[in-house]
Amino acid sequence: MSQPIASPAVALAPPRHVAIIMDGNGRWAKARGLPRNLGHRQGVDAVREVVRACKRLGIEYLTLYAFSSENWKRPQSEVAGLMDLLRLYIRRELDELARNGVSIRVIGNRSRLAPDIVALIAEAEAKTRDNRTLTLVIALSYGGQDEIVDACRRIAERVAAGALRPEDVDTNVVASHLQTVGIPDPDLVIRTSGEQRLSNFLLWQSAYSELIFVDKLWPDFSAQDLADAVGEFQRRDRRYGGSGA
Ligand code: FPP
Repeated sequence: MSQPIASPAVALAPPRHVAIIMDGNGRWAKARGLPRNLGHRQGVDAVREVVRACKRLGIEYLTLYAFSSENWKRPQSEVAGLMDLLRLYIRRELDELARNGVSIRVIGNRSRLAPDIVALIAEAEAKTRDNRTLTLVIALSYGGQDEIVDACRRIAERVAAGALRPEDVDTNVVASHLQTVGIPDPDLVIRTSGEQRLSNFLLWQSAYSELIFVDKLWPDFSAQDLADAVGEFQRRDRRYGGSGA
């Protein structure tokens, strides 16, 4: 049974797209004298709870930063543990996610992933392609700068081939060459664990996102914490560079 979530007092529109930097698994484990990978394992429980809460909160897109392009620098045992958790998550949850109308999409550099994970991702994406309740975007081996560089390179190739004029390159053209093509920009970016930076996450897409930093470590983050962040978002005044007058 899921816990009831206390609704925010003001009923403004919820964020369509919430993106989360799930930080603090290592500190959660350290505080308990446990190995880091147990912190990541506990983090998967928080993922499950937050994914389930999205529908009740009216969130249509949820992007989770599961593994950054810089995370490859971590000890091999930690990287292997994280990859195992991702395998397990997709294998165990795919049927339930598919039944609940969740569409899975993975962004990031797949060339560095093990072939079985690449195949699993392709299966999950294909199986859930037509689902519409929630789009769960998993950022895996993902880096925002790499994503922008890759988009620039492909645009430059089209210009060099005469398929595109330099003066026609605008924000829409760039956005359409990013891996997030077709996904609205995040309205709200949440980072847990008290750190206050983007760490190469959705750099282009978060240009006008509201940022909320939560002190809790990711394994302790609950559906209620997500509802609270949504409530705070709904009290913010978004002006997109205008005066709001
Ligand atoms: C950051 O905490 C967290 C990660 C690098 C991994 C996040 C992964 C999961 C929650 C599990 C798998 C995800 C899915 C979608 C199934 P940290 O290790 O940097 O923590 P620290 O800053 O306290 O050391």
